[in-house]
Amino acid sequence: MRCVIVTGVSRGLGAALARALLDHGVTVLGVGRSSAAGLGGDRYRFASCDLADVAGIDAALAPAFGSLAGLAPRFACLVNNAATAEPVGLVPMLDGESIARSLAVNLSAPIALCALFLRAFADPAVERRIVNVSSGAARSAIAGASLYCTAKAGLEMLTRVLAAENHDPGFRAVSLRPGVIDTDMQATMRGQTETSLPGVAMFRRFLADGRLATPEDAAERIVDRVVLGDPANGATYAWPDLDRAIE
Ligand SMILES: NC(=O)c1ccc[n+]([C@@H]2O[C@H](COP(=O)([O-])OP(=O)(O)OC[C@H]3O[C@@H](n4cnc5c(N)ncnc54)[C@H](OP(=O)(O)O)[C@@H]3O)[C@@H](O)[C@H]2O)c1
Repeated sequence: MRCVIVTGVSRGLGAALARALLDHGVTVLGVGRSSAAGLGGDRYRFASCDLADVAGIDAALAPAFGSLAGLAPRFACLVNNAATAEPVGLVPMLDGESIARSLAVNLSAPIALCALFLRAFADPAVERRIVNVSSGAARSAIAGASLYCTAKAGLEMLTRVLAAENHDPGFRAVSLRPGVIDTDMQATMRGQTETSLPGVAMFRRFLADGRLATPEDAAERIVDRVVLGDPANGATYAWPDLDRAIE
């Protein structure tokens, strides 16, 4: 059997990825504060975890990861999808508590999840894969989105370090920039003031120009090409051409 762990399955891309994977016959472990209502069935499990509590991740998730490994899958994948775009604001507007929380969810938690995943699925005979859901923001400096940009840049470096540490032929770590998708995260960006997000007009144009993909369309292609496809270890893939690595 094949199993995939997806974080952030309450809504948006993560919920659609979990649904698409279930439709492909994969066993899915959803991780997050809640699970989307439509997710269920024999092959679906859910483990509750607030990813802002990085120190609590091992205790919260080790049993669920271990029980999945106990099913002796031939393919195991972790999709670090959960993220927050908040707080939005120029650097002087940020406070320590929200800085720590944002970086915890977007960067520290994915690292802790990779660590737990690699300990739970330590057998190199198992085909192992880590998909870090990044963003064009890893490269583009967006005024007002310093924490999000910084975390996504860090996440892409994490992918490259994982590839440098793991050379088994069955191991792949990849970064995925999924393009612009019609989710709550886009709505959060569109709803900002120009004081917090000087380039807010770009996010409003994404919607007005019909550029947003549906989560379902994005998920189907991401599952087919990246999660269950044949990506290269350490590479970065960007929507819409998921067949060719950009880096
Ligand atoms: N939408 C886009 O246009 C776009 C563009 C580029 C990259 N991305 C990336 O795609 C991924 C999915 O984004 P999305 O648009 O689907 O975002 P979304 O609609 O805002 O959903 C975010 C998901 O992350 C979860 N999450 C946030 N904070 C959490 C926490 N503390 N603990 C556990 N789970 C938490 C949310 O769960 P709760 O319901 O519990 O908050 C939700 O399930 C993200 O990595 C994002 O950076 C999105």
